[in-house]
Amino acid sequence: MTIADIPLGLKLARQAGWNQIETDWRRFLTMQPDGCFVGELDGTAVATTAAFIFGPVAWIAMVLVDIDSRRKGVATTLLKHALEFLDGQGVKTVRLDATAAGQPVYEKLGFVPEYPLSRYVGTPKPSPKSAALMLPPTIGRQLKAIAAFDCEMTATPREKMLARLFEESPDLTRVLYREGRVEGYVTGRRGANATLIGPCIATAHAGPVLLNEALSRCAGQPVFIDVPRDNAPAIEIVENSGLTVQRHFTRMCRGARIQDHVEAIWASSGPEKG
Ligand SMILES: CC(C)(COP(=O)(O)OP(=O)(O)OC[C@H]1O[C@@H](n2cnc3c(N)ncnc32)[C@H](O)[C@@H]1OP(=O)(O)O)[C@@H](O)C(=O)NCCC(=O)NCCS
Repeated sequence: MTIADIPLGLKLARQAGWNQIETDWRRFLTMQPDGCFVGELDGTAVATTAAFIFGPVAWIAMVLVDIDSRRKGVATTLLKHALEFLDGQGVKTVRLDATAAGQPVYEKLGFVPEYPLSRYVGTPKPSPKSAALMLPPTIGRQLKAIAAFDCEMTATPREKMLARLFEESPDLTRVLYREGRVEGYVTGRRGANATLIGPCIATAHAGPVLLNEALSRCAGQPVFIDVPRDNAPAIEIVENSGLTVQRHFTRMCRGARIQDHVEAIWASSGPEKG
């Protein structure tokens, strides 16, 4: 896939009702130019996928097949190609967030379910708990410390992705420190249908503060937020803000299992980036 294929990516995302915009496709192509692929059927481009390598871990995302070309093996062929690419790069673990439509395709390729996430949608109410503790990060100096904290919690070295997200949406980014140490952060991105809040990775102390603040900052606007079902305090905060479940994703894994801390994931980054 190249920049010239972005219109295809946008068309397929719109067709599936997904939230990604051109900025997202540009980020994918910048982060992993050799990992984004287009699938063709009889010479016509009809499908996309994007794979990102974060050290030993990779994410697969944006598996989209044109509605008229489905159930012909296009996604399976494209995924096999992406997995071959990742295996060739020495990746040990491949993860993704599957929709209900995608899950059976991934299972046949050796992915196993890890845990469920719920996609919440709605227009948050302002939260009385919103605090004035947050500082928008001056990315240059703080990125390393934030990325190290993120890696400790997610077991995935995602600095290149976080750098892009912070740069794209400084207004949605907040970091919380205690005694000079990163306790958590939240960021987000604008989308075609709503603002996606996430990732929000934080300790038990910082998570509620950051999540409430992010929801409050987006009060009155449509938002999406993907929360692991196993993070009960996060679910409670999101439901109290007035959001409701639209659908579920299943986080899946192929290869070596990695130990992320689900209790520290207050909002995932969205299905295209974990
Ligand atoms: C999910 C999605 C990517 C699957 O794409 P696809 O190209 O239809 O997938 P495949 O054709 O490889 O496999 C789908 C099914 O068709 C079957 N199939 C494959 N080749 C076939 C053929 N020649 N004839 C009939 N069926 C065939 C597969 O066995 C599979 O069956 P299953 O659903 O019972 O497991 C597509 O439906 C889509 O874009 N959905 C919307 C976006 C989405 O949810 N993406 C997944 C994100 S996680």
